[in-house]
Amino acid sequence: MYITDDIRYIGVNDHEIDLFEGQYVVPNGMAYNSYIIMDEKTAVMDSVDGNFTQEWLDNIAAQLDGRKLDYLVVQHMEPDHSASIFDFAKAYPEAKIVASSKAFAMMKNFFGTDFAEKQVVVNEGSRLSLGRHELNFITAPMVHWPEVIMTYDSTDKVLFSADAFGKFGALDVEEDWACEARRYYIGIVGKYGSQVQAVLRKAAKLDIEKICALHGPVLTENLSYYINLYDIWSSYRPEEEGVVIAYTSIYGNTKKAVMQLAEELKANGCEKVVINDLARCDWAEAVEDAFRYSKLVLATTTYNADIFPFMRQFIDHLTERSFSNRTVAFMENGSWAPVATKIMKSMFEKSKDITFAENTVKIMSALNDESTAQLKALAKELCTGAAEETEEEPKGETRRFECSVCGYIYEGAELPEDFICPICQLGAEVFEEIE
Ligand code: FEO
Repeated sequence: MYITDDIRYIGVNDHEIDLFEGQYVVPNGMAYNSYIIMDEKTAVMDSVDGNFTQEWLDNIAAQLDGRKLDYLVVQHMEPDHSASIFDFAKAYPEAKIVASSKAFAMMKNFFGTDFAEKQVVVNEGSRLSLGRHELNFITAPMVHWPEVIMTYDSTDKVLFSADAFGKFGALDVEEDWACEARRYYIGIVGKYGSQVQAVLRKAAKLDIEKICALHGPVLTENLSYYINLYDIWSSYRPEEEGVVIAYTSIYGNTKKAVMQLAEELKANGCEKVVINDLARCDWAEAVEDAFRYSKLVLATTTYNADIFPFMRQFIDHLTERSFSNRTVAFMENGSWAPVATKIMKSMFEKSKDITFAENTVKIMSALNDESTAQLKALAKELCTGAAEETEEEPKGETRRFECSVCGYIYEGAELPEDFICPICQLGAEVFEEIE
């Protein structure tokens, strides 16, 4: 595949995979992207999943057509991109391997060698000339692992963005970018919003014409569309107004209440209502919906003096991905001692900027007049935004301090003097306050 006069696609499509990263369904497969830059010196950008090593090596050989290979640039060490490095080193023993120091430490763990004799260690601001092309390296810790670097080819104005701007789905299947890119981003990188914001600030200073990610298509037009979505997702702002109802139901009574709430929401003028049955849907799609829309209703039963397992797991998926800046409402069902609302609410204790709806719905086995009235009140509240107007609590000033080495952002009134960056382990002295 042609990218520019000197850059070609040499990646592979995977239609055999059942679960990406061992947990995400990928009905349209997966692409492991790799690229080759043909200049006075030649460079391959990343390797591929271990099931496709030979296909990838064949792709490289076809492009080289007998020429020498000088460099393999390793931007990310997760095995979907790194698994073929060892075989590459055997096939091209003279090629140097270009990566961050953290990546070489990971190679030692994965392969038993850090390729000491082949190492070219790069860091923020490092450059590598291939002749006409100059590669500029940008650290991107936690997008999606700590060793990640991105590479900007200032000659062709191409950003090799590692996992950022990637999506689920093989390249030989046509589908909408945003849907599977959002599910991928929220599921896999969603926890690291501040680190993505740091990289977006670096990218804003570059003149980029093409984005070559490690998954998904090469982005060549209207790049502001993709960058804007990444800005929304990584700052935890809702992308759209709408209500997501995520529920579990054992004998159908909670489901019946959920369907009635959906009708009430629509009757009150809420145009977008999305319903997910957590026992049956793709959990990553439900998590994506919760991050996409502005309001979330959680409906479940009390179960073993706790909440139904699918709901507990769903809320864990949200909170561990820094779910914030949303309105959350609760519906509980319990036949003798309902505690679900109390437990669900407590699970958001450490979440930032969550507004709880004033109205909750308490069902004792099945809807009755009282719980139906609660349900109507909740629908009205969610459609008028009454909660946001009444529940806002005065917030202390939040300042932002950025690690000048790795881009990690600390948020708080003050940066503690003894603060240690959780990514690069350096102290408060390397942090600078940002807007
Ligand atoms: Fe596509 Fe984080 O690996």
